[in-house]
Amino acid sequence: MTHKTAAHTYIADPLNLGASPMLLRQTPITPTDVFFVRNHAPIPDINPDDYRLVIDGLVQRPLTLSLDELRRRFPAHTVVATLQCAGHRRRELTEVQPIDAAEIVWDIDAVSTAVWSGARLRDVLDAAGPRPQAAHVAFLGLDLVDKIQDGFGGSIPLDKALDADVLLAYEMNGAPLPPTHGYPLRVVVPGYIGARSVKWVGRITVQATPSTNYYQAHAYKLFPPSVTGATVNWEEGEMLGALPVNSFIITPRPGARLPAGELTVQGIALPGDAARIERVELSCDGGQTWRAATLTAPPQQWAWCFWEATCSLPPGRHELVVRAADSAGHTQPASLRDVWNFKGYVNNAYHRVPVECAG
Ligand code: MTE
Repeated sequence: MTHKTAAHTYIADPLNLGASPMLLRQTPITPTDVFFVRNHAPIPDINPDDYRLVIDGLVQRPLTLSLDELRRRFPAHTVVATLQCAGHRRRELTEVQPIDAAEIVWDIDAVSTAVWSGARLRDVLDAAGPRPQAAHVAFLGLDLVDKIQDGFGGSIPLDKALDADVLLAYEMNGAPLPPTHGYPLRVVVPGYIGARSVKWVGRITVQATPSTNYYQAHAYKLFPPSVTGATVNWEEGEMLGALPVNSFIITPRPGARLPAGELTVQGIALPGDAARIERVELSCDGGQTWRAATLTAPPQQWAWCFWEATCSLPPGRHELVVRAADSAGHTQPASLRDVWNFKGYVNNAYHRVPVECAG
């Protein structure tokens, strides 16, 4: 399914599409044809009749389940969840210092929200019976990544895997999961970087330590601003998991030329893992003064919320800035320099948008 609406194609093969920010802000649930796409390898062609999900590792009863068995044995559960790639807002970080050239320079377009339905991972793990040493749950995709001669994989801590809203999803927005987004089955880990929501999942392994898959043990690691590609020690660094609170401006766009006077600023805010957005604030003077933005709907766990605020701008140049706080008491860092890392992951600094108003 490559019929995406007004998307930005970063790479055609494997398919990597940014969502159109303007379309993202139109509906709280992103239509499937607008949803961003992040692939590290070609989309595998999976025959649903032959498909089996294997659950093994530190479990009392290893399982091999067909799609029918998964649907019959485990009740369906539905969750509205935002997926955000760890590289969302990387473009701003490139303005501080160059980022690893192999990375896609995502703008505010590697984020989308869908209604996901499937079996709870927790129910499937309960059926397999994790052994006492179990501490992590590793996922392996059925796509073949050239570079590693294996599937894309990653893991989450067992505690997170037992959250009632972590899914093995077979439906997206009320329809069967499309091939681009993981048909016939994908993991959905709300509140975590998108990379942990492994698509085309074929194997779930319960283990004592995190996954050793390249995308857990090497890529998707966070290093401090002092580390560069030349100095990095890949044994170090923090494996990314839970997402931090974030917010960004959708309209106006950076560099917009506007008439002076009343301006409505609109954007999106995302809570950190397991939290809800509590407050969004806008500054129209580069961060000197702040006003509360209005949330357009009650904030939810696992999903973004839309906000808007108005300000009155005289002729001249202005910097609009947004920041948010969530129910876990977390706020965003003010400066891009504080969050810069050479891989360009999890940028949640205040989002700044320069505009110019005509007299
Ligand atoms: N799963 C597999 N098997 N292969 C992948 O390349 N990409 C991951 C994740 N799951 C990936 C994967 C990344 S980095 C992200 S951000 C999300 O899928 C994106 O999900 P989407 O393409 O449905 O938006």
